[in-house]
Amino acid sequence: MKTKVIKLNTEELKAGDLVQAAEILQSGGLVAFPTETVYGLGANALNEEAAHKIYEAKGRPSDNPLIVHIAQVQDIETLAIDIPEKAYQLADVFWPGPLTIILKKKDCVPYSTTGGLDTVAIRLPANQIARNLIAEAGVFVAAPSANISGKPSPTKAEHVIKDMSGKIDMIIDGGMATLGLESTIIDLSGETPMILRPGCITRVMLENVIGLIDLDPTILEKNPDKNATPKAPGMKYRHYAPEGTLTIYEGDTKLVIEAINQKTKEKLESGYRVGVIATDETQAFYHYGIVKAIGSRKDEASIAAGLYGILREFDELHTEYIYTESFADNSLGQAIMNRLLKAAGYHIVKVT
Ligand code: TXA
Ligand code: MG
Repeated sequence: MKTKVIKLNTEELKAGDLVQAAEILQSGGLVAFPTETVYGLGANALNEEAAHKIYEAKGRPSDNPLIVHIAQVQDIETLAIDIPEKAYQLADVFWPGPLTIILKKKDCVPYSTTGGLDTVAIRLPANQIARNLIAEAGVFVAAPSANISGKPSPTKAEHVIKDMSGKIDMIIDGGMATLGLESTIIDLSGETPMILRPGCITRVMLENVIGLIDLDPTILEKNPDKNATPKAPGMKYRHYAPEGTLTIYEGDTKLVIEAINQKTKEKLESGYRVGVIATDETQAFYHYGIVKAIGSRKDEASIAAGLYGILREFDELHTEYIYTESFADNSLGQAIMNRLLKAAGYHIVKVT
């Protein structure tokens, strides 16, 4: 299959820009498109065959459900039943935006989209290309991140082109995904709201609107107990992972830098290609290997935005070992550490 790539600027969208992409979705094809979190791989969510194509293109396990993207808040009523007031309160504050809400599904949502679950994950994205595309297509758009299953999510069209060329009908290049981490997922289908995946909308931000929320205990587990299964099926897979072996170093910054320098030197001497993930503040203190700054510690959003891109850059360089500093696991740092832990297969070294 030949994959068509089109380039659009979110600031200068014209009528007609998305006609062809919309037609592909209507006829059951696959279109990758930008969102404010990461690039999504879209298909008609209510068309079982189209949803199947997503799993095939990504190499995704079929028990891992898809998020259904909508163009307007009231669409949740077409997709879900028993919608609690809290869903509307959250939609009011955070939609359009990087929040996914899980509700009990209606029969029209096929099990091939929900991975066999009786609930459906719904999101109204903020990115203007994404919103226009969903509206223009007139279908609900199931869209997982547009990466090969297990790889870091794509934050640029080049990442999607690398993973999906030849496998899907179209890729819309709309520039950088500004946030860089997937949406926060909150489950409102049970008694107490629960965060299943942390993201840029933090627990505190959500609690300010709807009161107490539980956190899936597996989210920041550093030594995941094999018996504890995350409630979002996708969170159980080794995910977001670069090709090289990633290790997180945790502790006093000065000691972390010393330990990473030492380890990098050792691996270089044994003939390996080694990468170091530093920050703007620490970059100058690393003396070995390929050193890249992920962002500034003074601006956590820059670290979130830089994470997947840097992991992919190290893949391009075929680094065999990657060492990274760790980040505080509160607020946005919770989402950053959650992804970093998964990318590292929970491999953490505590430096004392
Ligand atoms: O920011 C995002 O959410 C991006 C963009 C494209 O919108 N999409 C995304 O999709 O990250 P994906 O498929 O990579 O991640 C979806 C996650 C998976 O971990 C999946 O298991 C979980 O959502 N999920 C989906 N439906 C669910 C449900 N009914 N119950 C529990 N978890 C669900
Ligand atoms: Mg994903």
